[in-house]
Amino acid sequence: MENNNIFRKKSIEDLQEEAFNEADGKGMKKTLNATNLTMLGIGAVIGAGIFVLTGNAAAQYAGPSIILSFVLSGLACAFAGLCYAEFAAMIPIAGSAYTYAYATLGELIAWIIGWDLILEYLFAASTVAVGWSGYVSNFFKENLHITIPSSITQSPFILDPVSGWQSTGSYFNFPAVFIVTIVTTLLVIGIKESVKFNNTIVIIKVIVILLFIFFGFSYVSEENLTPFIPENTGEFGSFGWSGILRGAGVIFFSYIGFDAVSTAAQETKNPQRDMPIGILASLAVCTIIYILVAFVLTGMIDYKLLNSPNPIAIAIDSVGTDLKWLSPIIKLGAIAGLSSVVLVMLMGQPRIFYSMSKDGLLPPLFSKLHPKFKTPYISSIITGIFAALLAGFLPISLLGELVSIGTLLAFAIVCIGIMVLRVKQPNAKRPFKAPFIWITGTFGAGFAIIQMLGLPLDTWIRLFIWMALGFLIYFIYGKKNSILNKSK
Ligand code: ALA
Repeated sequence: MENNNIFRKKSIEDLQEEAFNEADGKGMKKTLNATNLTMLGIGAVIGAGIFVLTGNAAAQYAGPSIILSFVLSGLACAFAGLCYAEFAAMIPIAGSAYTYAYATLGELIAWIIGWDLILEYLFAASTVAVGWSGYVSNFFKENLHITIPSSITQSPFILDPVSGWQSTGSYFNFPAVFIVTIVTTLLVIGIKESVKFNNTIVIIKVIVILLFIFFGFSYVSEENLTPFIPENTGEFGSFGWSGILRGAGVIFFSYIGFDAVSTAAQETKNPQRDMPIGILASLAVCTIIYILVAFVLTGMIDYKLLNSPNPIAIAIDSVGTDLKWLSPIIKLGAIAGLSSVVLVMLMGQPRIFYSMSKDGLLPPLFSKLHPKFKTPYISSIITGIFAALLAGFLPISLLGELVSIGTLLAFAIVCIGIMVLRVKQPNAKRPFKAPFIWITGTFGAGFAIIQMLGLPLDTWIRLFIWMALGFLIYFIYGKKNSILNKSK
């Protein structure tokens, strides 16, 4: 064991032994294979990003060249994905980036990243739950002719960039709280049941998207795609090449989630082999789907008309009555798709808490498994309560930007960590090695930092406040109770 300081590390051997001991039946059930993991990844990735943000980003920043934004952001994620894959195969423990940092950069950084991952997982679940609520309300209204009162479908406040916090007159966002509650219940009952539910939903949402690509393709017109890169308006980020960059920053949200695969390592039968497959295959599938959707979407309709919460349905409606039948199907597919994102995010969070609690950095309550279901049920319920509160009371824009900055920070630390480990422990067993590590790691971290710098100052301030709170908890509780401290 290392000494009693904030940079003490868990050794790779300890971690590998922990993973091995977990395999003897005392820990979580091992039921997942590479296909399940890929489905989990796709389940977490395809969501509010493609169903909502693509249209906004095309309309405001990039026009048809949003296709290039997807290529760019996908490339940046691929670098980070390769680093995640190396780590996940090497240290198949449920904590994801948190555990990787513990092995490489020391306890304090591990705590920082664990605390930061709450922004990625718990806050993303809330963000997407708010998007879910929007689609459900719209479907009820437009397709079932039932209007859910706006007093229970919005957060009580919105954050206006100019005038600040404004009251909306609403009490809380009921549908968003509803979906979080249902998903949390499912997760307490068991991962296998949750994975079955997830697989079904992933198939539905991929089919719906393929239907859109297939039927929309014949309506793509050259006119809508020209000029491919609309001329810059004179302002940075407003079309032209800088618009492609800003577009990439916005649609980055749509790629978030492939790393959630790494949180299920302990429930995977053969993590060394299956983790890299799950991470990289889900990322590859989603990148291809996104590029095709972006092409068909901006080819079907003038991009200026896409600034709506429902851009894919708008594109379909724009071609007249021919594809009218497809519109409700797309909405239902989006509703199903967003549910599975909420599911995977709410599944990942308690598993990170589980690892942090096993390490003594969080109270033992967080690693308590249900006697029958073998799920980390208490931390699942705590996560669910907080996610429901955030989804019920905060606006989507504030939540979404925090998710992006938190995830980018995690990506940067993982990419740096993997390079540190190559230097410090060149001979450790690596079942999967990221190719050209110095290029991959540097580009992965570099892209993440550049995208972070593009986010608004307010988001940075919130990140600092969140981190300050984390520091306080670490120095009051975690540092004293760390198992590295006790076994010294
Ligand atoms: N990538 C996820 C989404 O687009 C978070 O909803």
